[in-house]
Amino acid sequence: MAGRKGSSENAGYQSSPSALRKKSTTSPSYRNYQKLQKRVDELEARNQDLEKMLRKVSGELDALKARNAEMLSSYALTVYRLAVASEYMDKSIRRHIMRMGKYSAALASIAGFSSEDVAAIELAAPMHDIGKAAVPNEILMKTGRLSVDEFALVKLHTVTGGNMLADSDSKTLNLARKIALTHHEKWNGTGYPVGLKKTKIPLIGRIVGIVDTFDVLTSPRPHKDAYPIEVAVDIICDSRGKQFDPSLVDCFHDNVDTLIRIKAGIDRPENLPTYNFVFSERDRN
Ligand SMILES: [Fe+2]
Ligand SMILES: [Fe+2]
Repeated sequence: MAGRKGSSENAGYQSSPSALRKKSTTSPSYRNYQKLQKRVDELEARNQDLEKMLRKVSGELDALKARNAEMLSSYALTVYRLAVASEYMDKSIRRHIMRMGKYSAALASIAGFSSEDVAAIELAAPMHDIGKAAVPNEILMKTGRLSVDEFALVKLHTVTGGNMLADSDSKTLNLARKIALTHHEKWNGTGYPVGLKKTKIPLIGRIVGIVDTFDVLTSPRPHKDAYPIEVAVDIICDSRGKQFDPSLVDCFHDNVDTLIRIKAGIDRPENLPTYNFVFSERDRN
């Protein structure tokens, strides 16, 4: 009965269950397995710790994002109210300020500014005329032509605004200062306060100069009716290479639909331009 289980010939080669267990638990492969298992357990524990930490960090990040959003929105509101205060007597200015932020951001984005810069521009552009706080209201609200002296006072709003926004570590306020100082400079060097020419005028000043003119032309002001969009576009295109940077005028012309959509989103229907208008005295030669 050779080979039969339990036979006397095989008795020397058989191990008892306890001997087998002992043998298997002391074998090198079992020791390796144990080491591996220990490592796996350690990794799992570490993984759980990391997941816990990640949940905590992402909770803190959410809270930080919410705080940041709240700060940004109160900052935007403060800027907006400050800008409104600077031209308090003219109710139409509120919407001018809102449109200026959106228009400037839209044209800056088309002109290639980064999304971070575009966000700062949207906050900074509403402050472009903040220096008008120092211009007498009778002049700001005057309906007829301005005298030379009155116009000299109006021109000062650029420098006054620059001074009001000076000495800050804030990127937005520094940008606002640059805009306040340069949004009335002209491509051909006939603007104010300095008479900067062409690319010596910061790009953002050139952008705000175009959208500010577009907004004034298409809105009712104490001294003028709102002109139809086509009239405003024609006036701006006629000033290509004179008052305005030629390539920015092309950009503006090709994307005027974007500005019209922004305007329609902010304005009341009764403030939208109609063909019922006469040119203001100041726009007649
Ligand atoms: Fe201005
Ligand atoms: Fe303006």
